[in-house]
Amino acid sequence: DERAPERDAEGTAGPPPTPPLFSQEFATDPYPTYAWLREHAPVHRTVLPSGVEAWLVTRYADARETLADPRLSKNPVHHSEAAHGKGKVGIPGERSANLMTHLLNIDPPDHTRLRRLVSKAFTPRRVAAFEPRVRELADRLIDGFAGRGRADLIHEFAFPLPIYAICDMLGVPAEDQDDFRDWAGMMIRHGGGPRGGVGRAVKRMRAYLTELIHRKRGDLGDDLISGLIRASDQGEHLTEDEAAAMAFILLFAGFETTVNLIGNGTYALLRDPEQRRLLQDASAAGDTGLLRTAVEELLRYDGPVELATWRFATEPLTIGGQRIGTGEPVLVVLAAADRDPSRFDDPDTLDLTRRDNQHLGYGHGVHYCLGAPLARLEGRVALASLLGRLPDLRLAVDPAELRWRGGLIMRGLRELPVEFEP
Ligand code: HEM
Repeated sequence: DERAPERDAEGTAGPPPTPPLFSQEFATDPYPTYAWLREHAPVHRTVLPSGVEAWLVTRYADARETLADPRLSKNPVHHSEAAHGKGKVGIPGERSANLMTHLLNIDPPDHTRLRRLVSKAFTPRRVAAFEPRVRELADRLIDGFAGRGRADLIHEFAFPLPIYAICDMLGVPAEDQDDFRDWAGMMIRHGGGPRGGVGRAVKRMRAYLTELIHRKRGDLGDDLISGLIRASDQGEHLTEDEAAAMAFILLFAGFETTVNLIGNGTYALLRDPEQRRLLQDASAAGDTGLLRTAVEELLRYDGPVELATWRFATEPLTIGGQRIGTGEPVLVVLAAADRDPSRFDDPDTLDLTRRDNQHLGYGHGVHYCLGAPLARLEGRVALASLLGRLPDLRLAVDPAELRWRGGLIMRGLRELPVEFEP
């Protein structure tokens, strides 16, 4: 195969001096492999662990252009394998639960219409008004382990915070939120559960959301689901199915991503005492400016979304000089683009004061993260609360012992054991 990673265009590059794609070693530190790909095979065809073949785009300029290219569709019907019914792309369980018509699976003009409707409910104002509630949640979670001197920050903090936050925002009653916590846990295979469990969790979540939307229709409040029901644009509304798929994608897109922002971000800070001290001092002094640039830099440096979601060529096209055939899947490697030295000075260095930081951690183009304001808020509050309340927070294990979840799209830790003075 001429496109194998062992050869570059001139056939002289030799094998990559890095672990093979998708190995455990790669999951722990994919960045050397990405550096090799950027240099030698910037648009690289690979076979994913699921057996699906896809192109990986790793340079910043190509990545940014690809994310905004209207010739690439988000709709899996354009996948060349879709005709054979392989159905391997997408969120596990979404097909059988009939949740396919959400923002990340559709193109303009349908996407434009749905996005406009949801934007009327999911406003920056709604997010900003939510800050005290996120603070309260963060404090309550820290109260749960602060007296113990040890904790697993993934299970006890990074995982529950976003799920409770998004449930609150959607208007899921408090007594049902632990069910969501369980389903969400299954969805990210937290305990390494079987894929079948994921499908079941997604179906239960859908059944619950459909019922909740139905109930709220008769009794609108000021929560986000009521906002979705109420939203209208030129006489158009979301159907109940669309509202259910929308609530689902808000949960799905807003949950594991934020877990990983808090997890990867805290981990990066704990490994860099100088940068951590800088942030801790600024945060103690109430300097929210540094907190803001810090969250952006943590997203760039080791962001939650390693690869953007699937895109499919609707016609033959060229990316970075490489021909892509109709129906072929393209995956933009955000984690590789955000360490591209031709875009970022010293890309492998964590610099919380970095200003020129147009990273692609939230994507780019019409699918740019809808939840970015909420994610930024949760990131800021989570870091400020942790560093403020546990000033001597430190890793409780050797970094080499930490296990990374090797999921395809997301990058995150399975656990993050820490210690501190109780
Ligand atoms: C889309 C990242 C948090 C909702 C995206 C995309 C990225 C991303 C990269 C684009 C994917 C693509 O083009 O293939 C992140 C990161 C987050 C985060 C890094 C946390 C740090 C959230 C939150 C929510 C959310 C909290 C909502 C509650 C969405 C939605 C989309 C999206 C609905 C689809 C937008 C569209 O297709 O128009 N996100 N996200 N995200 N995100 Fe986020």
